[in-house]
Amino acid sequence: MGLSTFAFQKCISGACGATYGLEQAYVACPKCGDLVDIDYEWDRLPIPDKLSDFSKFWTQRNNRTRFSGVWRFHELMPFASQDLLVTVGEGQTLLQQADSVADYVGIDQGNLFLQYEGMNPSGSFKDNGMCAAFTHANAIGAKRAACASTGNTSASLAMYCAVTRLMKGIIFIGSGKISYGKLSQALDYGALTIQILGDFDDAMNRVKEVSKKLGIYLVNSVNAFRLEGQKSIIFRILEALNWELPDWIVVPGGNLGNSSAFGKAFIELKKLGLIDRIPRIAVINAGGARTLYELYEENGLRWNQGQPDQLIEKSYFDQMDQDNAKASTLASAIEINRPVNLHKCLRALDAANGIVRQVSDQNALDAKAKIAAGGMGCEPASATSVAGAKLLKAQGVIGSSDRVVCVLTGHQLKDPNITVAYHSTDRQEFEKVLGGYGVQRASFANHAIGVPNDLDDIIKAIKLYS
Ligand code: F0G
Repeated sequence: MGLSTFAFQKCISGACGATYGLEQAYVACPKCGDLVDIDYEWDRLPIPDKLSDFSKFWTQRNNRTRFSGVWRFHELMPFASQDLLVTVGEGQTLLQQADSVADYVGIDQGNLFLQYEGMNPSGSFKDNGMCAAFTHANAIGAKRAACASTGNTSASLAMYCAVTRLMKGIIFIGSGKISYGKLSQALDYGALTIQILGDFDDAMNRVKEVSKKLGIYLVNSVNAFRLEGQKSIIFRILEALNWELPDWIVVPGGNLGNSSAFGKAFIELKKLGLIDRIPRIAVINAGGARTLYELYEENGLRWNQGQPDQLIEKSYFDQMDQDNAKASTLASAIEINRPVNLHKCLRALDAANGIVRQVSDQNALDAKAKIAAGGMGCEPASATSVAGAKLLKAQGVIGSSDRVVCVLTGHQLKDPNITVAYHSTDRQEFEKVLGGYGVQRASFANHAIGVPNDLDDIIKAIKLYS
């Protein structure tokens, strides 16, 4: 009972590798400043012989932790005992075969799948990690939790605070760029919301400082417990594919939490002998927030056994400072220039023969419209995964017979302004919301038809357009 004595925190740096207990969440290694992981003495823990053993937990759905789509895989993230696990029923998400999207991407029917994480209780993938962070925070007696957010982390934190009443939530957001769907959640759930003059990267720096100073539990994805929970997205994808491996996992890249967690999940599954190969991971940046793309694809930054080239990194970020460069994209959830999980993501790319691409806001919004027209709406950032898959297919990297899973990270209703502007016939409305981001057209707009309030005219319009 309690936090596991077979779990520990470990610095990911190949030059350091210091280990720590679980008594606090280290958002940076106290010795060298790199990120830390949760690691396990796996040989002392009960691990199922094969992944399909997890299917049996479906019959235990009256047990709240087995009902959770995260804790159903507790054995693969065993840092706390069963009685400590915090859940609000997260992770009831779908893997949907999406044939119309397969057509759009250019791959064979039946081979494109959308992992719809917008089905989570707060409407985004964040709940997968938040239940794990709350489990740890509660176990160590934390009373306040904070995050910086482009909106979804804050919505998730605020919701977990409101439902569980375990902690008081404090949220840091930048000015202007948070979408109303997300802001409304944080306000409605009653979190203390602090809007600072600056962008997400500024808010992230501040929340780190403030939480350290005031001893507040930080639930951004620099918190390694959160990423443990996010591994479950991969477990559910495999479960939905009847425990078969896809060829590709395509995921949006912002703070690089998901890609990092996915890589860790695959590395561990392989180490435990539960899979025999690791699918390729493609991380997709928005063109206006393409740090990972530039560092990985253009400057050749690599994991390098835990010692990424500091010179490449430093000169890149120094230049960014010098230019006072700010991220700018309609995909506000991933409008991030300084991804906190960069090193863990490099590790994931290394293990998964990974690749990074950037897509324009135009392509992301067109992909978003196609995704929704196939029945699975998502927010703009999420659609970068499909836009990225389409680009990789066009480049001949993804083959038409490859099996591809695109992760849709957030719900369609998170950011309705952008959707409505995209489908609007009013050019002024279109320009007001989408102008300035290089979006010139709505390639797949579904315009509302204006009709006089007259029965004959209405019938005429329906006959004409249906
Ligand atoms: N997609 C959505 C919908 C997100 O909200 C985020 C991140 C990402 C993708 C990128 O996350 O790269 O860390 O896996 N949102 C954070 C937030 C920053 O504050 O809600 P990644």
